[in-house]
Amino acid sequence: MRFNLLVALALLSTSLVGGIPPLMPYPQKVNLREGKFVLGEDFGIKIAGPYSPRVFLAKRRFLSRLAKRTGIFFSLEPQKTALILKYQKTIKLKPKMDESYRLEITPDGMTLEAKTDIGILRGIETLLQLLSSDSRSYFFPAVSIEDSPRFPWRGLLIDTVRHFMPVEVLKRNIDAMAAVKMNVLHLHLSDDQGFRLESKKFPLLHLLASDGNYYTQQQMRELIKYADLRGIRIVPEFDIPGHTTSWLVAYPELATLPGPYALERTYGTKDPVMDPTKKNVYKFLKKFFKEVTKLFPDQYIHIGGDEVNGVDWSQSERIKKFMEKHHMEDFSQLQAYFNQKVFKILKKLHKKPMGWDEILHETIPRDVIIQSWRGKEAVIKAVKQGFNVVVSAGYYIDLCHSAAYHYLNDPIPEGTELTEEEKSRILGGEATMWSELVDRDTVDSRIWPRTAAIAERLWSPSEVRNVRDMYLRLRVVSRQLEELGLTHIKNQGMLLRRIARYQDIKPLEIFLQAVEPIEGYERHDFKDYTVFSPLSRMVDASVPDPIPAVLFNFAVEDYLNGDENAGKFVVDRLNLWWKNHQALEKIAGNSPVLKEVLPLSSILSRLSYLSLQVIEKGNQDENVLKEAEKLIQETDQPCGELKLAIIESFKKILFARRGTE
Ligand code: ACM
Repeated sequence: MRFNLLVALALLSTSLVGGIPPLMPYPQKVNLREGKFVLGEDFGIKIAGPYSPRVFLAKRRFLSRLAKRTGIFFSLEPQKTALILKYQKTIKLKPKMDESYRLEITPDGMTLEAKTDIGILRGIETLLQLLSSDSRSYFFPAVSIEDSPRFPWRGLLIDTVRHFMPVEVLKRNIDAMAAVKMNVLHLHLSDDQGFRLESKKFPLLHLLASDGNYYTQQQMRELIKYADLRGIRIVPEFDIPGHTTSWLVAYPELATLPGPYALERTYGTKDPVMDPTKKNVYKFLKKFFKEVTKLFPDQYIHIGGDEVNGVDWSQSERIKKFMEKHHMEDFSQLQAYFNQKVFKILKKLHKKPMGWDEILHETIPRDVIIQSWRGKEAVIKAVKQGFNVVVSAGYYIDLCHSAAYHYLNDPIPEGTELTEEEKSRILGGEATMWSELVDRDTVDSRIWPRTAAIAERLWSPSEVRNVRDMYLRLRVVSRQLEELGLTHIKNQGMLLRRIARYQDIKPLEIFLQAVEPIEGYERHDFKDYTVFSPLSRMVDASVPDPIPAVLFNFAVEDYLNGDENAGKFVVDRLNLWWKNHQALEKIAGNSPVLKEVLPLSSILSRLSYLSLQVIEKGNQDENVLKEAEKLIQETDQPCGELKLAIIESFKKILFARRGTE
């Protein structure tokens, strides 16, 4: 289905797309019926199931979110049961659990039914997304929904090392994950730049290697509980044997080379690495993982294993001799040897290991989960060898690609011959929020709303993949996430007020509607980023794939297909961008940090002006097009690490007629 953009936007303001409120992830089966259930003060909820703190507390949160959205003062002692939450059992969180639910809404009442209390949590989020309104009342449309996830593992990795993420950041992101039915928070807790968990057995880890930024065990216990109440597992990652500078700062005796070591302040793959030939390394890890096991209830512990570059290993005589003695030909065998020993330790502790692609080796046990980050080939290789896989390739949200890019990336690689059994070993996926270039102020804006599109890819049927429809729903869901305390929208204003030296920020906002951070790892080519670099410039305030730009791009398509209303919308936007540059320049008069984006603002303005010429006057003057071509060429070079998010639309408007000649 192709939606007329403006009609869809108008409908969205009364919250219906195609008759159904914007649900995300979209359920397996939705049947819209006649009528609606009107919400009033006398709104009673009955729980019909064994005692579950999850459901009990979810009911309270549900009412509070409804009250805030509607302004309704719900009665403390409602006389009517309007919603029944019916489930058979409470369960322990695990990778394969029943999260299915059925929702029946009629004009007389609503029933949410599930096998498990987790299913109830998932259904409640759907119900909240269904809330609709007209001029008289708030209501839920009469509907019948049957729903369950396509993949059992729907995760988000947050790197707490490169920039520390305080507990409240994690909590609000857990709430957002629950809202889009995600169920694994993967915490990257140690790396070259820091060690982020209190260890009572080895206190130098958090005392010497965290700059004071770590989670106490008490905080971690509370966080795990908080996540569990929302149906979310926490999988901790302790990346070994590489990415371990922080460990070696505290305990240099674990290292391959003598050291001493200092915390890394820069980024990239580093050389320090544990020495797999030392018995004391395993003794240490045994004690360490025993402590960790007591803290984290989840079955899985992630041991990282990525990017061991072999530089320090190749400089060690001890390692050379060890490898000769054991007939090892390369470092991958040495790492496999290390992993075997670590797996044994974890097995004794009744934990299952998980690790990045690089741990894949024919000798490792098949209950190890491989997290694939280097591409589809790694996924295929792993499932063919009998491993369960969690896919992160294509879900690297730190790289600032579009929501559509991630959305269309199916965990099951297309065009490959996998048996049904092999496919079933693809457990799902994880979005990865590496934090080199985000801090607590900006991290939400890199996770949301794009991760909601990934959540849909992992939950909904594979056929649900209409990009325009996704964006129209994402636009609404993004605003709902803000209600949960996420800062992805409001922090832009905060950053811009500081950048503008407290002048009016409107011109900066208008500019950021048309631009986005450059993609991939390119930002590192422009500045030597360290853990202390400011993340408070325009590029940090900007967001990947800004929705106003997405809508503009759709409107340009519609306009070029003959939609006059879309044309008016396009002209309005172009006028705004054309006139904006002067205002932005004025603010820059008091704000040196803004100077770096002036060339791009000027190009945006000029391209908008030239586009208006072409639209309004049908101006096909060769001089106009020549100037446009030159400006477009200039945009090949990023400016302040930013690029235009609407460049393709400019090309379409300016050269549409030329293309058809
Ligand atoms: C990784 O991105 N090094 C797993």
